[in-house]
Amino acid sequence: MTDYKKYALITGATSGIGLELAKLFAQDNYNLVIVARDQSELDATASQLSTYGIKVVTLAKDLFVRDEAFSIYDEVKAQGIEIDVLVNNAGQGAYGLFQDNDIEKELKIIDLNIASTIILTKAFLKDMVARNGGKILNLASIAGTVPGPWQAVYHGTKAFVLSFTEALRSEVKDTEITVTALLPGATDTDFFNKAGMTESKAVQDKASLSDPADVAKDGYEALMAGKDKVVSGFKNKVQVALGNVTPDTMLADQMKSQQEPLNK
Ligand SMILES: NC(=O)c1ccc[n+]([C@@H]2O[C@H](COP(=O)([O-])OP(=O)(O)OC[C@H]3O[C@@H](n4cnc5c(N)ncnc54)[C@H](OP(=O)(O)O)[C@@H]3O)[C@@H](O)[C@H]2O)c1
Repeated sequence: MTDYKKYALITGATSGIGLELAKLFAQDNYNLVIVARDQSELDATASQLSTYGIKVVTLAKDLFVRDEAFSIYDEVKAQGIEIDVLVNNAGQGAYGLFQDNDIEKELKIIDLNIASTIILTKAFLKDMVARNGGKILNLASIAGTVPGPWQAVYHGTKAFVLSFTEALRSEVKDTEITVTALLPGATDTDFFNKAGMTESKAVQDKASLSDPADVAKDGYEALMAGKDKVVSGFKNKVQVALGNVTPDTMLADQMKSQQEPLNK
């Protein structure tokens, strides 16, 4: 008998929310294609996930580079793999005032958070449309619902991901394909370190950060239920609801005082 297991492809599966999502898929008997930059991290993650009795394929790709994002589809197809679930999780931030931040870094953030998401979604969605089935989970953020002084470009990229996800969901509404956005709040991962954000007031109280395993569980359940989006955590749900009835100028000023450096 053929041992057919579905495949999920997860970008950024070696750390944080992506790693926790990968564990949930593995527990549910999905084979995995995991993508990140560091091959040794990918190998370590693959051996951890293989203990669930699934197959794990690793692809070392730098999604700051568009050609590397484009190459993923071809490499997956060359291995004869159909992707049932696509998770666009890899993402980074760039902390600082826009006037001071390095433009090259900011353009890379746009390529990672936005371009790689649309490149992978277009490629795998075409196959999903052809077979009328599949699921997509995009990592947005509650940051995408408010302007983000000190993280202006990052918040903008997450607003894009949320808008894009909601539009796509409507386009495929009459099919068996579902598209879901996960909106975490500040979560205890390596994100803030990579973004150069450790001095921000927003991350001083470690106890207030969400657990990436809880965030992944909320996203996984919403994805499997075919929901349009999920804000992870009660506190974040309240924050988004209040944001919906607060003027953007006021929200921007609130975010500025929350996100500025401690010693400012
Ligand atoms: N943490 C938060 O507070 C928070 C809140 C809301 C939304 N999010 C979103 O959640 C997602 C996951 O973030 P996280 O917090 O779990 O961060 P994380 O712990 O830093 O994990 C990021 C993952 O993405 C990979 N990655 C980073 N840059 C990459 C690149 N250029 N090419 C390929 N892979 C890359 C990393 O591996 P390598 O570095 O080895 O490539 C790692 O596997 C992101 O989209 C983030 O915006 C996070």
